Amino acid sequence: MLDYNSESADYDRTRGGVPRAQAAASALDQLLPARSVILDLATGTGIVAAQLEALGHRVIGFDTSVGMLAHAAGRLPGRVMRADAAALPVTDGSVDVVTAIWLLHLLTDAEPVLTEVARVLRPGGLFLTTVDKHAASHAPQGMSEDSPRADGCARLTAVGARHHLHLAAATSFVGYGQARSGGAEPRYPILGFRLQAGSSG
Ligand SMILES: C[S@@+](CC[C@H](N)C(=O)[O-])C[C@H]1O[C@@H](n2cnc3c(N)ncnc32)[C@H](O)[C@@H]1O
Repeated sequence: MLDYNSESADYDRTRGGVPRAQAAASALDQLLPARSVILDLATGTGIVAAQLEALGHRVIGFDTSVGMLAHAAGRLPGRVMRADAAALPVTDGSVDVVTAIWLLHLLTDAEPVLTEVARVLRPGGLFLTTVDKHAASHAPQGMSEDSPRADGCARLTAVGARHHLHLAAATSFVGYGQARSGGAEPRYPILGFRLQAGSSG
């Protein structure tokens, strides 16, 4: 995984800046109840979270990188915290919405994060996450696009079901600024999983 502490100063500029963040936030917004309170895993610099707030939602951001969180703190004052997405300092069944944009593709196994999401969501709550990021943005050199990925749609759907997280919605956003060598800007899929009502995760 990249060292996001040293990446933090250049992150927004090299990841499509506000246009990419606006596109991601509006795609999420299509699947969200109005004025949701959202727990954003891997919030990074908070650039997507800030756009969600501009759309009327309230966001609490978690990330493991102090460097990324230093930027997020300016965008979500008093509402960022250093925490691993697989070990959240959050009470069971207390959250309506969890988001994770561009997190799961970084992990070797997404299941610990899905387990934790299922624990913190209230029954009926929603988990929105990007899937198949590498396939969308063209596989990096030496990695085949069809090799198993932690954020693979089929795998996430199967793992989610084990934790009572069932596929409920899908959308996508344009990755402005993410085109490679003159190609088209990629479109990144987002899936929505709902925690089965009557489940305690
Ligand atoms: C590609 S950035 C995405 C940031 C933001 N969601 C966005 O779309 O701009 C990935 C972020 O995941 C964070 N991260 C990586 N592993 C994590 C983990 N286990 N728990 C929480 N954050 C993590 C990194 O520090 C980094 O800020």
